Amino acid sequence: MKKLDNIKKIDREFSNTLVDWYNQERRILPWRETEDPYHILVSEIMLQQTQVNTVIPYYLRFLDELPTLESLAKATDEQLHRLWEGLGYYSRVFRLRQFAVEVQEKYNGRIPNEKSQLISLPGIGPYTCGAILSFAFHVKEPAIDGNVKRVLARLTNDTRDISKVATQRSMEDLVRSLLPEDPYAFNQGLIELGATYCRPRQPRCQECPVRTFCEGYANGHVEDLPNKPKKKKQKEVSLPIFVFHQNQEMLFVKRASEGLLASLWGFPMIEENFVENIESETEVFLQHQVIQDYFIEQFGIRLQPISVQRVGPIKHVFSHVIWNMHLFLIEDPNVWNRVDTVESPETIKSTDQDISLPTAFKKCVEFIYERELI
Ligand code: ADE
Repeated sequence: MKKLDNIKKIDREFSNTLVDWYNQERRILPWRETEDPYHILVSEIMLQQTQVNTVIPYYLRFLDELPTLESLAKATDEQLHRLWEGLGYYSRVFRLRQFAVEVQEKYNGRIPNEKSQLISLPGIGPYTCGAILSFAFHVKEPAIDGNVKRVLARLTNDTRDISKVATQRSMEDLVRSLLPEDPYAFNQGLIELGATYCRPRQPRCQECPVRTFCEGYANGHVEDLPNKPKKKKQKEVSLPIFVFHQNQEMLFVKRASEGLLASLWGFPMIEENFVENIESETEVFLQHQVIQDYFIEQFGIRLQPISVQRVGPIKHVFSHVIWNMHLFLIEDPNVWNRVDTVESPETIKSTDQDISLPTAFKKCVEFIYERELI
């Protein structure tokens, strides 16, 4: 246990030390060189669940193509998908466009600097709201994301579960009591500390600029904090994916507007776990009532394949579910010819060059092409 002798409670002296350190040592990042709330918002949304170094080129390209809130409000699904491709969690970008549309409609295109207005807009939670208010408008508000919670739990040796509302509340109170008049450098400083010294693993406590304030360090507890309940293991499912093909083209459908990979292109598929049945003989499997019903419902037709090849499974890991995709490569002139005449869902026949696909389906296409299966 490394007991520090004169442990100082975190107070204004801590704030000054943090702010001075941030101003001297901060990394130069493109979203720290602007005061444009729209640009700051784009960076903050991208930085949720994605590392700084990955985000930089995406951020620059996104704003090069969509430099204003107005241009984002008018962007197409395809454009957004292309600009976001590789960042994952696509719902973030569609919500961002929804935000832009509402700001156009309700606030004449100006992002509000009033907390109650900002927080009621799509995609804006307490962290993003605090980040926009403090970084773009210098309004005195905390901006506490998961990394900042880790820093605060260590600084105050707080062993409570950080997923609990009571813990989050008291962290918010603490930050409020410490925030200087201009909150910018303080909030950025906590984020910067979490990224550079107070890292989740192997924190660099010996060199940390606020080590003398840190109660977690004084108690030798740093690496045990924060107290975060273990994530539940992802559910693993086996799913049939139907790749209808003809002359190297494949059939894609627009996915539902809600849920995983919402509104993106995908293959016709059934998102129901077929864990036992999927291994049965192909002909038998395709007669399964759920599959028959799916084609009747989607295309108003029964499946009558002239050839079927099955390959896979191909695995894709999402944050909360793992898909084992069993591909059925099907030639069926009935379905192929019929889809153009039904209204729903929206479909396209393509070689995949003309449309952007989520990674899960891209993996399937690569699998097929590499083995020259169609
Ligand atoms: N992560 C979230 N917000 C950030 C910011 N403004 N700078 C660096 N990393 C961040």
